Amino acid sequence: MNTAREMTRRDFIKATGLFTGGLAVGSLTFLSGCGFPAAPGIDHDAYILDGDHLTVRLDKTPQLSRVGDSAAVIDEKNNIRLIIARTGETKYVVALNECPHREKQLRYDSSSETFLCVTGKSEFKPDGSYVKGPVEAPLRIYRSTLEGKTLIIDLKNG
Ligand code: FES
Repeated sequence: MNTAREMTRRDFIKATGLFTGGLAVGSLTFLSGCGFPAAPGIDHDAYILDGDHLTVRLDKTPQLSRVGDSAAVIDEKNNIRLIIARTGETKYVVALNECPHREKQLRYDSSSETFLCVTGKSEFKPDGSYVKGPVEAPLRIYRSTLEGKTLIIDLKNG
């Protein structure tokens, strides 16, 4: 007896021209594996928002423990979407965590020293300049200051 689920799968294979179950599963896995993971999010207790300044406690941010790491601050309540890349021992770059194309998240790739859209289609240099992508627009970069174990981000200046 055919269940609704089996019919759907069979219909899908027929519609896509895939003629074996193994090939269909392999193709779906390949398609879903496209692109890159976004930068990991930091905990809400690792930062404080004070007016136009966001202070990140680096001692509570293990996601940024090594040069080349990146981490995201996603705070929908306060409309904050940032990505922080650690580009040197004491150097950090903060950017808007929205690709100019369709606002998807980013990650930092230390080998190419670029911010990458999770789709893999857009790239930006740490100064925000456009490298490639469907929309030739820069990435917004925010001014930040390292003070001891805190990174103070100026949300107005970017
Ligand atoms: S959303 Fe980044 S390239 Fe489309």
